[in-house]
Amino acid sequence: MKRAAVFGIAAAFVTGVFATTLLAAGPDRVKYPRGFEKDFKRYDIVDKPDRKISRFMYVDPKSAAEAKPGQPMPNGTILVMEDHAVELDAAGNPVTDAAGRLKPTDKIVAVAVMEKRAGWGNDIPPDLRNGDWDYASYTPAGTVNEKAQLNNCFSCHLKVRESDFMFTSIFKSSR
Ligand code: HEC
Repeated sequence: MKRAAVFGIAAAFVTGVFATTLLAAGPDRVKYPRGFEKDFKRYDIVDKPDRKISRFMYVDPKSAAEAKPGQPMPNGTILVMEDHAVELDAAGNPVTDAAGRLKPTDKIVAVAVMEKRAGWGNDIPPDLRNGDWDYASYTPAGTVNEKAQLNNCFSCHLKVRESDFMFTSIFKSSR
């Protein structure tokens, strides 16, 4: 788990307490939400032609029901971004449908999860903190993606702080 290692080293300079709490972050607490394809609500699909993927966005149903437009998502929210490989033509370029959208296949290439629980942000270094969100990256089989650099999740999602660190919205779907 690379992020804990990086944080651990950085935090060790500051305080020994930090170093131990940070080991509880990432995939240790943001679990793979098994069965999300059936149990969660799919709220959007985002096309990424350059990466030859379609990204399926899901939210847990309880938080979807409690959420209010323009407000931060409730504590307990789990968001999943499931990357699907798309159909390609003979030249290896993505095929589009009549509406100009990519055509996702059933092949999953990655699963990213973000989850928010009260107090979780206290374990994250202040310059990276995303409110109370934490992040994890999984393989299609649901095992931890050891290659993921989880501090990048925080630094990039920091750009959309004003929308509760979310790039997409459960209230506004592109499909
Ligand atoms: C360089 C910027 C960047 C990085 C790094 C990044 N994301 Fe994202 N993330 C995005 C963008 C942009 C979207 C919206 C979909 C899109 O356009 O690809 C998104 C969407 C998401 C979503 C759906 C909710 C939302 O915010 O719309 C989840 C869940 C997510 N990312 C998790 C992660 C995880 C976990 C990591 C680290 C392993 C990560 N992200 C790293 C930019 C980033």
